[in-house]
Amino acid sequence: MAASRQPGVEPVFGGAGIDAGETDGIEAEFRAPAPYVILQFRRKFSIAMHAEHLTLALPDEAATLALGAALAANLRPGLVLWLEGDLGAGKTTLVRGLLRAAGETGPVKSPTYTLVEVHVVSGLHFYHFDFYRFNQAEEYLDAGLDEYFSGNGICLVEWPDKAAPYLPAAAMRIELLVGSGADAAGRTARLTAVSEKGRTCLAGVRSSSLPPPA
Ligand SMILES: Nc1ncnc2c1ncn2[C@@H]1O[C@H](COP(=O)(O)OP(=O)(O)OP(=O)(O)O)[C@@H](O)[C@H]1O
Ligand SMILES: [Mg+2]
Repeated sequence: MAASRQPGVEPVFGGAGIDAGETDGIEAEFRAPAPYVILQFRRKFSIAMHAEHLTLALPDEAATLALGAALAANLRPGLVLWLEGDLGAGKTTLVRGLLRAAGETGPVKSPTYTLVEVHVVSGLHFYHFDFYRFNQAEEYLDAGLDEYFSGNGICLVEWPDKAAPYLPAAAMRIELLVGSGADAAGRTARLTAVSEKGRTCLAGVRSSSLPPPA
């Protein structure tokens, strides 16, 4: 039987699955007492079932702005979004689309030099970070930014990898990939819900009128 057809290795919801190591774990659990087995199996399986992804083609800037608007329609208090991708991938553009749709009429500037730009719109606080200029992750601690992540504000983080491992976890990760070949002008967005809050947001985005899946 091919590896991808083994129990527990089936892709779930378009790409998520339990890898071979975790399959070993499940087999080991079947040797444990029954109530424990059921609890652990259900816990592991539910994690795999809920690891949701959505991949979208963004052929032009307008599509990136539209994805931002779809996110704006599905915000939750305290939502943390990590925006990943190379220089110029479209992270700030996505934030601009989100903030415009949320009601921001003023400028949406890149926080590359200020570290954080604050927007207060529609009764919500938005904290837009850019950690590109960090030379080492400890600079996140020195900057004393943790408080922004502990309230009800929406945190939108460009270059989160520059502050890892100190940065609070994301509810959803959004990777923006610059196209290649015939699609060189566009971008691909890959959304991964990490927490329950992120899954709720992703479910809303999925049901928005967006470009077709890539
Ligand atoms: N889907 C898209 N297709 C083509 N161009 C796009 C798309 N989305 C955004 N762009 C363009 O990409 C350029 C760079 O965008 P942006 O400044 O948002 O990138 P960034 O990821 O924030 O970069 P940095 O890492 O420097 O902060 C802009 O000119 C923008 O119009
Ligand atoms: Mg940017």
